[in-house]
Amino acid sequence: MSALPASAAPRNWDGGLKAIHWTMALLIPAAWVLAVLREDQPRETAMKLMMAHKSIGVLVFALVLVRILWRLTHAAPETEKTPWEPLAGLAAKAGHGILYLLMILVPIGGTVTSFANGRSVPFFGLFEIASPWATKQPFAGTVGEMHEFFGHALLAIALAHAIVGILHHVVLKDRTLMKMRPFARD
Ligand code: HEM
Ligand code: HEM
Repeated sequence: MSALPASAAPRNWDGGLKAIHWTMALLIPAAWVLAVLREDQPRETAMKLMMAHKSIGVLVFALVLVRILWRLTHAAPETEKTPWEPLAGLAAKAGHGILYLLMILVPIGGTVTSFANGRSVPFFGLFEIASPWATKQPFAGTVGEMHEFFGHALLAIALAHAIVGILHHVVLKDRTLMKMRPFARD
């Protein structure tokens, strides 16, 4: 996933990557809010919120696979230089790498949790993926806790990432945020 030399690198992120980035930037917090809201709800409501949580999570997983393929087959723009190179550039790369890792691991962890509880995974009422295990597995609780922890971590890191993006725009006044601007004509 390395950037091309300055002369060949595009000025902005391409439309496809931008569309997936901003769609996922809405879906991931939505999945998180639904999971957190379901606590302290009556059983019926909690089940509905969980169905929506899982369906959105499965969509996130499908989108991250498309995103990785897209990213590997399309050129990325150069990273803006800051006064703290090479450290800042490396931190950005590491941060994006961790976000990708969590976007893959969190939905997989959620799916394993559902299956380990003997529950199928729904997709917006269109279809369901049945659990390979008929009864609750001993590791259900542990995987559930890991999914919860990494789900919170994904949100926290994405929030920090968004703040850094805004700081680039407001304080450093570079093109970082503009390169990801939706609906912009290149
Ligand atoms: C980006 C995607 C996802 C995020 C950010 C996410 C986040 C979370 C969070 C933060 C919790 C804990 C909520 C709380 O109790 O405070 C949770 C619970 C849960 N999620 Fe997800 N999740 C995602 C995808 C999925 C998927 C794809 C599934 C299943 C298909 C799933 C199944 C579950 C289950 C079963 C629980 C309850 C775990 C337990 O209490 O043992 N999640 N999720
Ligand atoms: C769940 C929310 C988010 C996730 C998971 C996420 C993830 C990522 C990832 C992995 C990249 C690297 C580009 C790629 O390879 O796809 C990226 C780039 C970027 N994101 Fe986000 N993002 C989120 C939300 C936001 C928000 C809310 C903002 C707004 C401030 C934002 C601003 C940016 C910018 C400006 C870039 C380009 C960085 C550069 O060119 O160096 N992101 N994002």
